[in-house]
Amino acid sequence: MAYALEDEFGDIIGKARRGQNISQSQIATAAGITEAELARMEQYTLKPTESQVFRLAEILNLDGAKLLDIATERWEPESPQQISDAALAVITISAPVGGWPVNAYLLVCKATDDAAIIDTAAHPDLVLEQVDAHNVNPTAILLTHAHSDHTDGLPQLQTATGCETYIHRDEPKPRSNTQLREVAHDDVLSVGELMVTVVNTPGHTPGGCSFLTQNAAFVGDAIFAGSVGGPNISYQAEIESVRDNLLSLPDTVRLYPGHGPSTTVGEEKSHNPFF
Ligand SMILES: [Fe+2]
Repeated sequence: MAYALEDEFGDIIGKARRGQNISQSQIATAAGITEAELARMEQYTLKPTESQVFRLAEILNLDGAKLLDIATERWEPESPQQISDAALAVITISAPVGGWPVNAYLLVCKATDDAAIIDTAAHPDLVLEQVDAHNVNPTAILLTHAHSDHTDGLPQLQTATGCETYIHRDEPKPRSNTQLREVAHDDVLSVGELMVTVVNTPGHTPGGCSFLTQNAAFVGDAIFAGSVGGPNISYQAEIESVRDNLLSLPDTVRLYPGHGPSTTVGEEKSHNPFF
C-alpha cells in the first residue's frame, strides 16, 4: 500500500524552509550538501541519509527522530476513516482536486440525525450523495478556510440544503449564494445536540479555523498527520496556534484534516516533526 501521509520528507523540509524564510543555499551550506541535492530531496528524487535527516532537522527547527520516522516511512497514524461514538458520527468525503485528494466531512449528531457539512472538497455532488446515503439532515455548512479546493461548489450546497454557511471573520470569503455568517475563536455553534466550538488556527490562511466537538476536531489545512499545511501567511502563527489550540487538547481527540488521513492529538504530539 502507498504511504498514506499527505506530506513526505521533501514536503516537510520545503514547508519548514519556506516558512522560516531560509534559502536553499543557506541550508545546503549548513547541511554540507549541494543545493541541487537539497532540491532533489524536496522533490522526492533523492533519499536523505539518516545523518542528513538529523542535520536538516536541526537547521530547520524540526524534531529529527520524528522526521526520520517519516523519511523512512516507519510511522503513519491509526486512522479509521469512518468513526462513530455514542453522540456523533463522522463521514469522510474524499475527492480528487487537481490530482490530489481533498477531504470534506459530515459531522452527524446521532440523537437527531442533524449534520454539519464541513468544507465542500470541491465536489458538492459527492457531499450531497453522502447526505442522502446516510439519511441525515444538514443544518449548517462550516468552512475551515476559503481555498477553492475546500469551498468550490458552495453555492450548489447552499441551494440544495438551505443551510447557513459559517466562516471565520478574518478569512477571505469564497463565492456564496447567501450572506456568510462570520465566526470567531470560542464561538459555539450547535449541530443537533452537539456543541461545536470555533478554534483559531491561522497561518495557512489569515482566518483558518478548526471546529471542535467532543473528541473530534475538523482542522482544515492547519495540521496534517505528520505535517502542517503550507504556511502561506505565517509559519509562526500556524505552529503556535496548532500547538496552543489543538495539541493542548486531550490525546484522544481525533483530528480530521483537509488532506490525508485522520490522526489524533496524541499521535501528532509523538510523531509530528513540526512539534
Ligand atoms: Fe488550503
